[in-house]
Amino acid sequence: MLEFPKDFLWGAATSAYQVEGNNDNCDWWEWEKRYGLKDTSGSACRSYELFTQDFDIAHRLHHNAHRLSVEWSRIEPQEGVFSEEEISHYQEVVRALRERKIIPVVTLHHFTNPLWFSRRGGWQDAKACFYFVRFVEKIVEALSDQVRYWVTINEPMVYVYQSYVLGLWPPQEKSFSLARGVTTKLLNAHVQAYQAIHRLYEQKQSGPVFVGIAKNMQAFVPCISTAVNRCAAAVRDYLYNYELLLKIKKRKAMDFIGVNYYTRNLVEVRGGGMGHFLLDICQEEHSHLPRNTLGWDIYPEGFFQILMKLKSFNLPVFILENGICTLDDAQRWDFVLSHLQSLHRAISEGVPVLGYLYWSLLDNYEWDKGFAPRFGLVEVDYKTQQRTIRESALKFAEVCHTGKVVSL
Ligand code: FCB
Repeated sequence: MLEFPKDFLWGAATSAYQVEGNNDNCDWWEWEKRYGLKDTSGSACRSYELFTQDFDIAHRLHHNAHRLSVEWSRIEPQEGVFSEEEISHYQEVVRALRERKIIPVVTLHHFTNPLWFSRRGGWQDAKACFYFVRFVEKIVEALSDQVRYWVTINEPMVYVYQSYVLGLWPPQEKSFSLARGVTTKLLNAHVQAYQAIHRLYEQKQSGPVFVGIAKNMQAFVPCISTAVNRCAAAVRDYLYNYELLLKIKKRKAMDFIGVNYYTRNLVEVRGGGMGHFLLDICQEEHSHLPRNTLGWDIYPEGFFQILMKLKSFNLPVFILENGICTLDDAQRWDFVLSHLQSLHRAISEGVPVLGYLYWSLLDNYEWDKGFAPRFGLVEVDYKTQQRTIRESALKFAEVCHTGKVVSL
């Protein structure tokens, strides 16, 4: 058996827009309708009302930590106007976790922006960091006596890639120079939020606080091992996985590195120019790995490699997301087990890891992919809002309870 460290944090993650339902005051709500998505988020999992029921399930599954996000557009519905009612709601939410002995890990930005913010230009606006940090100060103040783990921004590179490189997600811009500008804004927003949170806890003498970012990491693997593919893989690895983290580290603005890991990128440069070099992936059936229902390769070896490269940061690592969408629950358990084995291997080779949170507790609204992908440990029937605990959830519960998994 492989044994994980004592005090390891075990649980699952969600985000507000994907589970709460009716977040009708943010950019995604407007965009999903304008874009004509087949599935719009609607009432999602109705977790805004059903959160105690969901946390009861997490508790029964022996989770001792849970990641969720607070929805900025609820808390600050208009510029500079804060809703005391919504702030109390989130106080109640984190209290409900703590009553169940589950440690809250709270994300402050998980892809969605208030409408007023996006209408001013969102993350392109010169005052974007100012607005974000003002909101952060408000909500952190309100939750500071109940929360010790904060995640400033979820997956900045995914946000930039989807919204400003592919131009798919709102605000649907397609420009490398805007992408670079927004990346810098997100970096500054993180650093300023980090400093603001620490300042606040110091003023209140509220004891230790741990602030990090949720960084999506991918393994970049050359498909056919040509010099150009190898070189492109190395460059993408640096730009996508590490550049931002190194900058944050330099500014001493990170207490842990939050890692979201799902898959690899099979690099195959198919033409000249920067666009091809940075973005092309293999279009043939060259990958023989099993995949999830979104077609992402399942590659636990990459998880190990990425964790090993984080060792030089000398910071604790916290797995904030790792999971699979599948209709075959046995495959879900294989995924979790193989990734936990990789994680354990990295820990035993010296990577300090605080915890592992599966994505997701519930099936939920997978952004532009709608409700079809099933990532949940718990199945959701969207018609009745009935929750059904899957077999994989029970197996994972056993790991959370004992801190042990079978070896390879
Ligand atoms: C991550 C997102 C999360 C979810 C999973 C599947 O990139 O952070 O919201 O959509 O992917």
